Amino acid sequence: MAKLTKLDDIVSLCKRRGFIFQSSEVYGGLASCYDYGPLGVELKNNVKKAWWKAAVQMRDDIVGLDSSILMHPLIWKASGHADKFADLVAECKKCNTRTRVDHLVDNAEEHTEHVPIETAMADAQDLSKKVCPSCGKIGQFTEPMPFKLMFETQMGANVDDAMTLYLRPETAQGIFVNFKNVLDTTRVKIPFGIAQIGKSFRNEVTTKAFIFRTREFEQAEIEFFCEPGTDEQWYEHWKEVRFKWYTDLGIKKENLRFRDHDPDELAHYAKACVDVEYKFPFGSGDWQELEGIANRTDYDLRQHQRGIRTLNDWFETKGDLTKITLKEEAENFEKGPLSYFDEQNKKRYIPYVIEPSAGIDRSTLAFLVDAYDEEEVKGDTRNLLRFHHALAPIKAAIFPLVKKDGMPEIARKIYDELKGCFNCFYDQKGAVGRRYRRQDEAGTPFCITVDGQTLDDNTVTVRDRDSMEQIRISTDNLKSHLREKLDM
Ligand code: GAP
Repeated sequence: MAKLTKLDDIVSLCKRRGFIFQSSEVYGGLASCYDYGPLGVELKNNVKKAWWKAAVQMRDDIVGLDSSILMHPLIWKASGHADKFADLVAECKKCNTRTRVDHLVDNAEEHTEHVPIETAMADAQDLSKKVCPSCGKIGQFTEPMPFKLMFETQMGANVDDAMTLYLRPETAQGIFVNFKNVLDTTRVKIPFGIAQIGKSFRNEVTTKAFIFRTREFEQAEIEFFCEPGTDEQWYEHWKEVRFKWYTDLGIKKENLRFRDHDPDELAHYAKACVDVEYKFPFGSGDWQELEGIANRTDYDLRQHQRGIRTLNDWFETKGDLTKITLKEEAENFEKGPLSYFDEQNKKRYIPYVIEPSAGIDRSTLAFLVDAYDEEEVKGDTRNLLRFHHALAPIKAAIFPLVKKDGMPEIARKIYDELKGCFNCFYDQKGAVGRRYRRQDEAGTPFCITVDGQTLDDNTVTVRDRDSMEQIRISTDNLKSHLREKLDM
């Protein structure tokens, strides 16, 4: 089981080197929640920076947003999440463990993301041969029931005006409800997109494989608004752009693929959806969703127009979402507050939306897995992370060969000069070979060593992480050399 070993190796490297820790570890841990340590937070920030650069900075047709996690509860009624965002689960009568019905199989096989309730219902006809993954009993399940995935919380101190809110299960809705604000305050014209990175929360029934599926996670989403009829062409555009983003950042092409959703697998809002899948080293099928690209049509903006019309009922029912039925579409619906007026062609419509929705934690895991390598060097195993330079947590480590003859002072000076340009690390502890290996494990592209020759001719060695080759560079040219190599 080499592949499983590989994920174990990565998990252990992540803990050993301070990339990722179990949340609340000193209290025994909190299942499916993780903390990013000193190297992990740099890596994750770099993933977010690379996404933002590609999604917002480099494009003229996308603007950014950072909406709140807590939002008006009616938003979740309108979006469909309050009623439909649930997994179908069955409880084992022997051990009381609840399992997603679509995850119940005859062997340990794992499954995809959320399957719509209707599809899961159809598949759930016969549980008599299914195995409980917890105690191993066969066919001992209760009737399947929906399990809601949104976390609830209370807002407000006074009994009269306190209300139940939800932690957002996707960042997308914060974008839809700001569509008009962005239109009114910027110069954007359709086609354009709004991009956002932020935390989302889902009370997942089954969590798995380290940071792959957790209950708190970060998403990076673009809602790209376009004229109905042009949606299919934008869908193709985004497929291409998003696939390339991963390969440009070093993911090997052979580990990435597209998987189209079957019609019965589509989320309640989608006309079409394709997953970018990565060959993760776990599960029976290996290929797992990294990102979803969906054609959400005009579903969300339409639904929010209905939601807005329903506001009065919401107050009358004291915020009880179960009592609320969204107001039917009025005449001239296309002229509603979330419609768009195309000045040039003098027409008004509700835009269609193409949504590339990536998981930051999941991409971070994919970048870790893809960069991880082991090689034999002089009878020893060298573990390394061959990160793309843009993602590497530390760009350069600076060492004095020995702690004497003025070498630490020179190395410190170099470190102080470079750290204003990019993330650097100073280390003078232990044999230099061991220091190199530690940086290989951290994925640091360059190690700079001050040695005896530096004292004579002001040159240092620059060691390349991937080839382990060393070249000598004058300290005067070091900064420009590294900037060029790192493209920073
Ligand atoms: N707005 C659309 C949406 O949320 P999704 O397929 O449910 O679609 C998009 O989620 C991405 O978010 C997934 O492809 C995955 O990368 C990430 N994601 C979803 N649930 C997750 C979880 N429980 N843990 C980690 N990442 C998750």
